[in-house]
Amino acid sequence: MDLDKVERVYTNYAGMYDQTFGRVVGQSRESAVRGLPVQPGDRVLEVGIGTGEALPLYPRHCEILGIDFSEGMLEKARKRILTHQLDHVTLRRMDAARMELENDSFDLVMAAYVVTAVPDYRKVIREMIRVCKPGGRIIMLNHFSNGNKVIAAVEKMISPLCKHIGFRTDLSLSTVLEGTTLVVVRKKKVNPLRFWHLVECVNQKNGHAIPAVSVK
Ligand SMILES: C[S@@+](CC[C@H](N)C(=O)[O-])C[C@H]1O[C@@H](n2cnc3c(N)ncnc32)[C@H](O)[C@@H]1O
Repeated sequence: MDLDKVERVYTNYAGMYDQTFGRVVGQSRESAVRGLPVQPGDRVLEVGIGTGEALPLYPRHCEILGIDFSEGMLEKARKRILTHQLDHVTLRRMDAARMELENDSFDLVMAAYVVTAVPDYRKVIREMIRVCKPGGRIIMLNHFSNGNKVIAAVEKMISPLCKHIGFRTDLSLSTVLEGTTLVVVRKKKVNPLRFWHLVECVNQKNGHAIPAVSVK
């Protein structure tokens, strides 16, 4: 999956997204976004905003920037902003692996169903860390493969197929976090089938101290 393919696949898919994948993950997205630790005045970055289904779920007391590479997905998100009159939201087309954004500029960076859908997740994680303030939150809502050998075998089998539609299933959380400054402070399964995980991390760059945490 390269960037041209991201644009092609997701722009072709944009018209059906909300009724298909969007519907499947709707419940987990809603439960995850409504529980985010967003404080009044926070600057929030949503990476791979897609059609913007999460946008109406955020509190209005924050400022949100949504980025995506697919023009078709962004077009849907723009319509949603108008429909819901979301004046606190801005959208920009951008490659999440090369964000045109300042260092340390967001309190919270969210990526929902994105880490396994980008051409190079390492670059995207590195950029999320760079633009997030020291001590800020980086949150991923995603499927991560686990140690179960049977599930792992099935995941490996279907992964190339999913990759074709822009999604891989064989990535583990420890692989994603390896070598980063991220410390997991909350990990929660967010849907009845327990397929999707909400993973909340503190960005411990520049030696920022971790607040008292509970890992569930
Ligand atoms: C599975 S969709 C998730 C959309 C949305 N976050 C949601 O919760 O429904 C993945 C999104 O990531 C975007 N994407 C993939 N690679 C990207 C990249 N390198 N830069 C920016 N967006 C990217 C796609 O265009 C698509 O909108």
